[in-house]
Amino acid sequence: MTTPAEAVYPRGKVAGPYPALSSRPDEAYVDFIADARNFLLHAQQYPIAEYSRKLLGEAGVGTSPDPANTRRAIDVLMQDPAVKTYYRVKRSLQESFWNRVLESYGANRKQILEAFDAADHMGPGSVSYDAGKPLPDYARVEIHLQPGGYCFEPLAGMLYDYGLKVFMGGAADHDFVAKMGARAAAAPADGQVRRILDLGCSAGATTTALKAMHPQAEVHGIDLSAPMVRYAHLRAIQQKSDVHFHQMNAAELDFPDGHFDMVLAMLLFHETPVPVARQVLQEAYRVLRPGGTLSVLDFSGDRKRDVYVMLFAELDGSDNGEPFIPPFVRSNIEDVIQEVGFELKSYDPSKALTAGRIAVKP
Ligand SMILES: C[S@@+](CC[C@H](N)C(=O)[O-])C[C@H]1O[C@@H](n2cnc3c(N)ncnc32)[C@H](O)[C@@H]1O
Repeated sequence: MTTPAEAVYPRGKVAGPYPALSSRPDEAYVDFIADARNFLLHAQQYPIAEYSRKLLGEAGVGTSPDPANTRRAIDVLMQDPAVKTYYRVKRSLQESFWNRVLESYGANRKQILEAFDAADHMGPGSVSYDAGKPLPDYARVEIHLQPGGYCFEPLAGMLYDYGLKVFMGGAADHDFVAKMGARAAAAPADGQVRRILDLGCSAGATTTALKAMHPQAEVHGIDLSAPMVRYAHLRAIQQKSDVHFHQMNAAELDFPDGHFDMVLAMLLFHETPVPVARQVLQEAYRVLRPGGTLSVLDFSGDRKRDVYVMLFAELDGSDNGEPFIPPFVRSNIEDVIQEVGFELKSYDPSKALTAGRIAVKP
């Protein structure tokens, strides 16, 4: 009989936890896309930046990052065939990547979904979800152009996980980024860590890394998306990690007041509308006990940004399905963290993800 793990990992795993694609030709194609993408995003990034700055200078566009100036800068750059093609190719590579990965995993769709069904009832740990749960409208956005977004494609967890491996160019192999996040999440000063909450846990890599760091604690990961938490649970079973996943909206947490010692939001807020981020922070404040810690690890909100930083963010918004990045970058989330009642203990914008924003509930 095929076990749930065999159905999801028929060709084994790659780079630690990631399910291998269904065939060697799929791997070869996706490797080509990944290399082309690296060439574009890394080797070509500096020449394009230099060329774009020259074009903006010639057009008399100033350096202000305000929305009107940023719009003007984009209009100037998109009239240039080379720059326009650069962004068009970037988008097409992203679309081709997702289509092939979906097709590849989709070849075993029936068996994979049966594996998820079986894993739903297995331990260690647990998963709870409600496939009919109403979702906020913004959940329909296909972030990073991922087909079906996080919520509307049953294989979303596997797609996202493989996408992370490729987009991070090796940095996420063996869950390295997740382990870095778990290490950066601050514990309360009194050392009492009984319960931890991971908000927007996606494939659960950081949730299991938190459990490994705090084995005595009860660890919960929540996500809007049922496909994400179902895959996260199966992935955690593979690692024999006793964590609890729930489909839940971080803006309406189903946990009592003062229940947690630590709350982590890693890479969540650049993918939510700013008013939702505020609600989530209010909820984080409510479910933390006094002295409990909040760690927000996300893009830097470096206030020294200029028009070029902002146009990059805007183009990621329009061309890469990331409409919430520009308002996030402008919002200064560290201000919102304090407005909802937290004491901000540390934040180094130059370090972005690794430094994060660490706050305490007084
Ligand atoms: C970039 S992923 C997060 C990565 C993850 N924290 C990690 O460390 O690997 C963003 C996740 O946030 C989830 N999300 C977005 N809005 C949410 C909300 N209101 N409540 C819970 N999860 C949400 C998405 O479904 C998605 O899985």
